[in-house]
Amino acid sequence: MESHIESAVELLLVAVGILTSMLWTSRAAEASPLLLGFKATPNPDVSYFQPLLNDSSGTYSLGFLRVNRDELSLSVLHVPSSVPLWSSATTQSLRWANPTRLLFNGSLVLSDPHTGVYWSTHTTGDRVWLSNTSNLIIDDASTVLWQSFDFPSDTLVENQNFSTAMALISSNGLYSMRLGPDYMGLFAKFSDSGQMYLKHTALEAKADVVPGQPIYMVLQSDGYLGMYQNGSLIPVDVQSFNTFQQNVSGIRRVRIEPDGNLKGYYWTGSGWILDYQAISEPCELPSSCGSYGLCEAGKGCSCLGGCVPPHGRISGDFCGEYDNRFGVLRRTGVELPYKELMGYKRTASYEECEGSCEGNCTCWGVVYSNSSGFCYRLDYPIQTLAAVRDEGKLGYFKVREGVGKKKVGAWVGLLVGAVLALAGVVGLWWYKLRNRGVKGYGEDEGGVGVGPYKDLGAASFRSIQLCER
Ligand SMILES: *[C@@H]1O[C@H](CO)[C@@H](O)[C@H](O)[C@H]1NC(C)=O
Ligand SMILES: *[C@@H]1O[C@H](CO)[C@@H](O)[C@H](O)[C@H]1NC(C)=O
Ligand SMILES: *[C@@H]1O[C@H](CO)[C@@H](O)[C@H](O)[C@H]1NC(C)=O
Ligand SMILES: *[C@@H]1O[C@H](CO)[C@@H](O)[C@H](O)[C@H]1NC(C)=O
Ligand SMILES: *[C@@H]1O[C@H](CO)[C@@H](O)[C@H](O)[C@H]1NC(C)=O
Ligand SMILES: *[C@@H]1O[C@H](CO)[C@@H](O)[C@H](O)[C@H]1NC(C)=O
Repeated sequence: MESHIESAVELLLVAVGILTSMLWTSRAAEASPLLLGFKATPNPDVSYFQPLLNDSSGTYSLGFLRVNRDELSLSVLHVPSSVPLWSSATTQSLRWANPTRLLFNGSLVLSDPHTGVYWSTHTTGDRVWLSNTSNLIIDDASTVLWQSFDFPSDTLVENQNFSTAMALISSNGLYSMRLGPDYMGLFAKFSDSGQMYLKHTALEAKADVVPGQPIYMVLQSDGYLGMYQNGSLIPVDVQSFNTFQQNVSGIRRVRIEPDGNLKGYYWTGSGWILDYQAISEPCELPSSCGSYGLCEAGKGCSCLGGCVPPHGRISGDFCGEYDNRFGVLRRTGVELPYKELMGYKRTASYEECEGSCEGNCTCWGVVYSNSSGFCYRLDYPIQTLAAVRDEGKLGYFKVREGVGKKKVGAWVGLLVGAVLALAGVVGLWWYKLRNRGVKGYGEDEGGVGVGPYKDLGAASFRSIQLCER
């Protein structure tokens, strides 16, 4: 009986497999260029990728890629691995449904007759074709009018020119890689103004950077990211990969990942091997444990207090409607992972540092170093802090009311809430005894971890365990 069910299931799986591969190949694209008058609409039966145009080697394909279940992205895929290498930068999300269409009338245009044009190359070309290096090209008889290599998304492939006018942007839109006058920088968009979290300045070992001339970067087949100037073949900087000057047969790519790291890979013929990462220590990533997370080298993530669910992103400040109302979280032994790239001011004491933030509604928190007197101010929602064995590194963080509540299951939440309420009452009483004001906790409804860290002691450690991912 059981074996019958098993074989039936097997049969079903085989059938599904055949069906899937049929869907993959049913509308196999050609390598011949798309010409004037070309039109395509998304096929509702396609589950992942609908190819429209291939390169001559069949390694790359331009087509409709299904994202977030029912949204459409015009993308170039590395076919053997199904990894997208390029996507058109549309400001709105497109629906995987009939009115959405791609046409070529001199421009490659993504549109919807009802809503209008989502994306266009604004060209007057004769044809669209895909090079065997994954570059999507629009040209006429004599010149290249547009190429996808000039508008990278999150990936750079071998020999693609990356200039100061471009940016690699992670698929979630949070992180980017850009070039400065003499450096490569990684930036996080925690607020409207970007925060740099990695800066790699050209080492100028073989050639000096000539001031006033832009640099550009190329991923070299030899296994390094080279920075160059003015078409010179001698690099001003070399970031070498693990396979530097080794003969790897497959192609290479570099991508800014959704966690903010910049990673390099090469293709073996059956898989991608990681051989470069700009940030090798997880706790040095800009937000490895999410909002209000704490990262401890070798141990992983816990929460500063109430962790915020990965999708419950917070933004803004405490001005206006929030009327400067907040809970407060304090911790010792914490540091910013990229403090070298942050502005700071020197204050005589921790209290002075905290005070500079408390009354200012654009400030989310401060991190203070008792030994240096440096006061780092955070003007965006608190991200992940790094745990350090130094009680002289202190942090003060404002918390929106309700932060962290959704993370804990209802029953556990109730239990922890009760424990914390008790701890809060005891803490309040203790505070009053010490004749100190308990500003900011008044409106709090017993949310997890909102309160002075030191007073919660072991109870707060348990709540940290509970919200660990
Ligand atoms: C191509 O189509 C788009 C969208 O319909 C339109 O805005 C554009 O003017 C057309 N271009 C030409 C050259 O017809
Ligand atoms: C790509 O095309 C060029 C000619 O355009 C050719 O020289 C080269 O060998 C091709 N490379 C691959 C990997 O097919
Ligand atoms: C890359 O860009 C630089 C500067 O814009 C230019 O000098 C160089 O020729 C370009 N290289 C390629 C392969 O397009
Ligand atoms: C690299 O590998 C190719 C083929 O795999 C071979 O023809 C070539 O000689 C090798 N080059 C070096 C420097 O090892
Ligand atoms: C709050 O801080 C910002 C940034 O340092 C500053 O520009 C602003 O003037 C401050 N506001 C007040 C009310 O102190
Ligand atoms: C901070 O430094 C002061 C003086 O340098 C010292 O008295 C105090 O104990 C230190 N506090 C911490 C938490 O290390």
